[in-house]
Amino acid sequence: MGSIGIEVNPLSKPFEGSDIDFGAEISGVDVEHLNDNAFQIIRNALYEHSIVVLKNQKGLSSAAQFDLTRRFDPAAKGLYSHGKSIDKRSVLHKDLTTVPSLPQVQVIGHGKVDAYEGLTNLQLTHPHHRTFHKHPIPLEEDHDFTHFYRWHIDSAMYELDPPRVTSLFAAGVPKGRRQTVRYDDGTGEEMDVPLGTTAFISGYRMYDLLSEEDKAWVRTSSVEYAAHPYIWMSKAKARSNGLGLFTDGLELPDDQLPPVDPAKVRKYPMVWKNPETGRLALMVYSTPVRKIHKGDGTVVDDLKTVRETLYRLQRPAISPAYVYPHDWTEGDLVLFYNHGVMHSIVGAFAEGEVRLFRQCNMAASEPPKGP
Ligand SMILES: [Fe+2]
Repeated sequence: MGSIGIEVNPLSKPFEGSDIDFGAEISGVDVEHLNDNAFQIIRNALYEHSIVVLKNQKGLSSAAQFDLTRRFDPAAKGLYSHGKSIDKRSVLHKDLTTVPSLPQVQVIGHGKVDAYEGLTNLQLTHPHHRTFHKHPIPLEEDHDFTHFYRWHIDSAMYELDPPRVTSLFAAGVPKGRRQTVRYDDGTGEEMDVPLGTTAFISGYRMYDLLSEEDKAWVRTSSVEYAAHPYIWMSKAKARSNGLGLFTDGLELPDDQLPPVDPAKVRKYPMVWKNPETGRLALMVYSTPVRKIHKGDGTVVDDLKTVRETLYRLQRPAISPAYVYPHDWTEGDLVLFYNHGVMHSIVGAFAEGEVRLFRQCNMAASEPPKGP
């Protein structure tokens, strides 16, 4: 199909009082049979709006999802963002099941699935915040209340660079109920969300909300990520709003990690520049950060100070008005610009609520660029 009939419309506000300024829905595209014109429209929309929602893609093949995702970074080697295999000790190990014929595509979700994409007898587990948060929602409230699980950038943050784009395809979505996200961070903030939403926030808004002084500071600062971060953090516990970890000395020492290659340690500017629009985003995945490198050459390596500094800068941008909670319907394909937005898994499913999704991304061909 050509580009005739393709429409790009900014997402409508998800609730009264929302102040989101990102996201677009594109209609009139058949992703299974995508030509260059249609791709160019999707690409332009992605760089401008950070998130692109393509509805009614039921039956979308893993191959077509992979092809579209790959087109955003044709020079990428085609390695899944977390590499070929995930260490059993990693906090990600239980969350991901690889499609055998396409290692860049993962089946994620919740519940029992007899057969899907060449896999059989799947028992999927939606990550539950109780496995990761220091103060989870009490069990008796778990049906109605929940937390943001972990605000993150899709990335290994060691050896491999964060993918440019991630695609999420909803093959099966349990119907209907909603939950309340409690921030439980002293602010009293909470928000009503669809069950199993994926929540997004904008790194551009996160930057724009800073004072001029903080903007100047983050523009010249970098963060260094821990080696083998998902193993390093495997015993640490997160804040109730999903934005980073408590500092209780639970991170694994170097002698309990796999061998560390200093050349594989990732260090990125705090601020990433959108190559098409020039906009600046504060893009720091605070959970695996180990050190801050300041513009004057000094290094902050006290973990508590590092985390408190990042938390102060990032917390304003996760308030409900700035969060887009996507309300999934079967057949939705959502693409997001992983160098401009952060996202979080949300919610807890009850017995019998089966969710079946596919996620695809690839380690980027080059690191994100600073301002
Ligand atoms: Fe993710």
